[in-house]
Amino acid sequence: MLTSLSIANYRSIMSLTLPLGALNLITGPNGSGKSNLYKALRLLAKTASGGVINSLAEEGGLHSTYWAGPETISDAMRRGDVEVQGTKRNNVMRLKLGFASDTFGYAISLGLPAPQQSAFAFDPEIKHECIFNGDYYRPASSLVERKGGVVKIRQGRQWEVISQHIPNYDSLFDSHADPASAAEVFHVREMIRSWRFYDHFRTDSDAPARKPQLGTRTPVLHHDGRDLAAALQTIIEIGDNEALDHAIEDAFPGCKLRVVTKDDGRFSLEFFQKGLLRPLTGAELSDGTLRFVLWIAALLTPRPPALMVLNEPETSLHPDLLPALARLIGHASQHSQIWVISHANRLINALNEHPACHSIALEKVLGQTEVQGQGMLDGPNWNWPE
Ligand SMILES: Nc1ncnc2c1ncn2[C@@H]1O[C@H](COP(=O)(O)OP(=O)(O)OP(=O)(O)O)[C@@H](O)[C@H]1O
Ligand SMILES: [Mg+2]
Repeated sequence: MLTSLSIANYRSIMSLTLPLGALNLITGPNGSGKSNLYKALRLLAKTASGGVINSLAEEGGLHSTYWAGPETISDAMRRGDVEVQGTKRNNVMRLKLGFASDTFGYAISLGLPAPQQSAFAFDPEIKHECIFNGDYYRPASSLVERKGGVVKIRQGRQWEVISQHIPNYDSLFDSHADPASAAEVFHVREMIRSWRFYDHFRTDSDAPARKPQLGTRTPVLHHDGRDLAAALQTIIEIGDNEALDHAIEDAFPGCKLRVVTKDDGRFSLEFFQKGLLRPLTGAELSDGTLRFVLWIAALLTPRPPALMVLNEPETSLHPDLLPALARLIGHASQHSQIWVISHANRLINALNEHPACHSIALEKVLGQTEVQGQGMLDGPNWNWPE
């Protein structure tokens, strides 16, 4: 489980360290930085699948994603006594992302190349990475460090250099995830790789989730929901079938959901609704019903990840369904750490009733995302290694 997340200089997040619990609920007005926080977490996840530099480039590169405000915000600026204005930068541009967990912590820092004769002057590169023990980085808790192309690993009281020339676009996880020589790197990579992000499921008439599909065992629903029927059948056969029936009954009293196999081996949904003489197929379900069923398949996964991130799961659901969704999310939080970003009051209120719910309300102060009620010194301890 992650115990804290820290971000610096990413979009509206100049500097933020959040304490995390089993079920984290992120709320806040439009423009407060909820999506920016989500994107930062997704970018962090890309470090473990070889895509962090490309993802940053796709988002517009470092110049676009970098905090556009001043390097420091003075008390006088906060009070409104003086205008917000930039001063000469004292520090080099560094976008930093990191987390601590109940096993290892990780931090990465990205920047621009040193001035050089190259057309790739705006190509971001990895400047620094570190894996550490404990709640936050201290030199004594550091286990693996990467600086430029050099990677060193702690061996008792000594440091052993295990690489001198890793490319600046490769992370530690791309170059050193061999469990025998760098067990911590392997462990952290596998943890990050297990994180699962669900954004907006498609439910339009051509949505893949509506179509019959070849039934292969599917313990993890695809992020666009294309393997919905197979994922549901997998829950029925090897997962928590009872919880599935319960979730349907909770949201749609009197209804039943079945998965049927066609002659050609393809799976299709059948949704039995009170008052109808035949079940409805996936193609016939309403957007909201289909979306709720997608959330059931995602949240009751027989292979729960370390972390599951749900971005605005209320989209296109009727407010009456939201308490049932909150109960489903609460159930999933027994097996995975959950991160929910939401706008919907009914969902927020229902999640807040859950004993494990850790609510984080964001606000924007002078263009900067802050946690409501968290003073400058109230957050968890955090140090950047660099
Ligand atoms: N590079 C940047 N530097 C500073 N602020 C930025 C930068 N890029 C985007 N922003 C700010 O981030 C804000 C958008 O944040 P975000 O999309 O996370 O909001 P949100 O809380 O998800 O809002 P909504 O509820 O509307 O989806 C915008 O107000 C924009 O001004
Ligand atoms: Mg948003």
